[in-house]
Amino acid sequence: MGFEGGQVQNAIYVAGESPWPISAAEWEARAAEVLEPGPFDYIAGGAGSEATMRANLEAFERRRLRPRMLAGTAERDLAVEVLGTRSPAPFLLAPIGVLSIAHPDGEVGVARAAAATGVPLVLSSAASHTIEEVAEAMGDAPRWFQLYWVNDREIALSLVRRAESSGYRGLVVTVDTLTLGWRPRDLAKAYLPFLAGEGCAQFFSDPVFRSRLEQPPEEDVLAAAVAMLATFPNLALTWEDLAWLRGQTELPLLVKGVLRGEDAALAREAGADGVIVSNHGGRQVDGAVAALDALVEVRDELGPDAVVLMDGGIRGGADVLKALALGADAVLLGRPYAYGLAVGGQEGVEAVIRHLMADTDITLALMGARRATDLDRTWIAASS
Ligand SMILES: Cc1cc2nc3c(=O)[nH]c(=O)nc-3n(C[C@H](O)[C@H](O)[C@H](O)COP(=O)(O)O)c2cc1C
Repeated sequence: MGFEGGQVQNAIYVAGESPWPISAAEWEARAAEVLEPGPFDYIAGGAGSEATMRANLEAFERRRLRPRMLAGTAERDLAVEVLGTRSPAPFLLAPIGVLSIAHPDGEVGVARAAAATGVPLVLSSAASHTIEEVAEAMGDAPRWFQLYWVNDREIALSLVRRAESSGYRGLVVTVDTLTLGWRPRDLAKAYLPFLAGEGCAQFFSDPVFRSRLEQPPEEDVLAAAVAMLATFPNLALTWEDLAWLRGQTELPLLVKGVLRGEDAALAREAGADGVIVSNHGGRQVDGAVAALDALVEVRDELGPDAVVLMDGGIRGGADVLKALALGADAVLLGRPYAYGLAVGGQEGVEAVIRHLMADTDITLALMGARRATDLDRTWIAASS
């Protein structure tokens, strides 16, 4: 028996107080206290009316679990393995860019927390620390790299090569952000951290990107940031390009941002090894379907053997288990760990991870299941 959620719980009771927030809402509230409105709203906000952001949460709220009693769950296993990458819990850390706006340690703080807990990190293309710095912070701990496929193939491929040579074991291609969504909270403050050189580390350190500049970023940050933003929109991208990328790398390839069954099938035809059902936390298409609802459609389309992950709205252990029961092989944790970073740096992220592991483990035990991977749709109430 590995991880015991009850130990985390007991430690809090015995200490007489919790050093960290417990609920996702409390983490968010604490982050709102420590961050300036610009950075906080960049993390917390979404596209348009934020209807999809709310829908992601509502889809979890709507589903109800069907626990079994006296099922003998003293021994449990929370671990999952996805495309050769193991996690001690059925979640990974989602790619979140620009984390220097949450805490000076940025993605390196997150990387250390991921390594300390063994939960894999998906490093963002828009991170404030480089592929290599994060690899160094993680040692042998599992990590994937998320690619924003910019409109310059040579730059995109250079990022992939760097990830390959820095020990990243999976490539996540995000297809829902070929240009930035309409985000009222950021627009109202004209807040775009990239313009200040935040979240540009992969590009500023990239030899191909640098070769495109007249002056290095160290001499003219604004010009380099503007050049990076100019390479970002890539609305001409199609599934054929993905098939090309498939031929360029042996890393397991996942497509992130799929919301329809037919797109999941196209991703598979183009050679993807897996899909991540996601609406980018409601930051791209306002009014898009909730990620949990799309998961059901995608799993139905691809069948039981395909690798399907999801993110969007994971806030507690019950959410993790509902997503697994509805067909996810694992989920990605997003905003909550960014709030953990804002509140407590590496330790804050570790606390968020450990709490979610404990909550998931305890809920699994009380559900009457021994393995997170045993759950299927029979564990969800039909009426929900
Ligand atoms: C501040 C912020 C930055 C993000 N940056 C990226 C990114 O660089 N690449 C990416 O694929 N997804 C990015 N995402 C989306 C997350 O990977 C994930 O899909 C989303 O956060 C899930 O929703 P949730 O956090 O509400 O659960 C970002 C999300 C947030 C909140």
